Amino acid sequence: MASSAQPRRRFAERLWREGAITRPEVAEAFATVPREAFVTEGFHGRDGTWVAPDAEGFLDAVYTNDVLVTKVEDGRATSSSSQPSLMATMIEALGIGPGTRVLEVGAGTGYNAALMSATGARVTTVDVQPDVVERAGAALASVHSTVDLQLGDGYAGWAAGAPYDRVIVTVGVAGASPLWLDQLAPGGFVLAPTRHAGHHPVLRVTRAAGGTVHAAGVCAAGFMSAAGPLSAVYPGAHPLGGDPLPAATVSHPARFDPPLDVFGYHDLWFALGAWDSRTTYAHTPDSAGNGGCALLDELTGGGAAIWPDGAVDGSGPNARAYAERASALVDRWLASGRPAVPAWRAPMTLDGDPASPIWVARDWRLVPGDLQEP
Ligand SMILES: C[S@@+](CC[C@H](N)C(=O)[O-])C[C@H]1O[C@@H](n2cnc3c(N)ncnc32)[C@H](O)[C@@H]1O
Repeated sequence: MASSAQPRRRFAERLWREGAITRPEVAEAFATVPREAFVTEGFHGRDGTWVAPDAEGFLDAVYTNDVLVTKVEDGRATSSSSQPSLMATMIEALGIGPGTRVLEVGAGTGYNAALMSATGARVTTVDVQPDVVERAGAALASVHSTVDLQLGDGYAGWAAGAPYDRVIVTVGVAGASPLWLDQLAPGGFVLAPTRHAGHHPVLRVTRAAGGTVHAAGVCAAGFMSAAGPLSAVYPGAHPLGGDPLPAATVSHPARFDPPLDVFGYHDLWFALGAWDSRTTYAHTPDSAGNGGCALLDELTGGGAAIWPDGAVDGSGPNARAYAERASALVDRWLASGRPAVPAWRAPMTLDGDPASPIWVARDWRLVPGDLQEP
């Protein structure tokens, strides 16, 4: 295979230009660690096609800002190398450097652990799937990495390596394990993509000296869901969503021209999720497989879809009421100054499986204060 030194450096430069990387040591990590070493058996591209290691254009496909799916079971992705811009944003949000002790939950290919290690951090990474750990181990060895790779359910963290200055979770969870907080050194924090309104925005989770636990929004993200107690469903959580809504019978017109970009749309979506527990992800008959933000009427079916251009489509027996509620929430987001994901804070409470509880965020509030009452 041709050397990847040049595409790698161009890749790091592109992530820098696009603003995903702002720190030189993170750019250097992306320019140094060969991503192809972590997908030696090939991968599924975003469109589902298989990219074999001997395929023409393999390196170009590796050095794109895209997720590389490395394992699929029953039509569902169960392991991957995450989207590089998201990895970069999360690594930067960790604020790591030489000697920082990091626990990663969700080793996957091992690439993210190797990137963090390249900044000088001391990294332990855990994955629940034995075959995934085996492949990640071979990849890490091939690049002479010092990452400590372990097999286990990440709910338990990895006590033998504690304390950690940071815990980074690279799989979607419903809440934070109390064991991660127990394994943190003073002043440490957890960064975890946490289920909220049908997707997994990244939250920063901290425990204060008195024992109270808080979440702060960091950025929008999409991740596959974790196995085991980390994905527990708990009372009051947003509906899981995913099912199609019926055809619209009430429509409110578009109001954003141009439509919100992907970040703006997720800012709106996060706010709707904070203000209404019926918010989730749904398809509609017209959405051609691309779902969006919706308020779900779980009792009688239907609800309202809210699109990036601000249009609202109501459906089901309560279509009118749902469409009006959805439009009122969009109004509220605009009147609040279009708050972005990092503008939100929430106290966390223990919930989920009583035998393996998780800290979940409730009662989201804007910082410095919500501008409008519900
Ligand atoms: C998106 S991949 C992680 C990407 C990875 N950090 C990389 O750089 O390639 C998610 C991984 O989380 C793992 N996972 C799922 N549930 C888990 C759990 N409860 N504990 C530990 N790992 C888990 C999956 O096996 C999968 O490999």
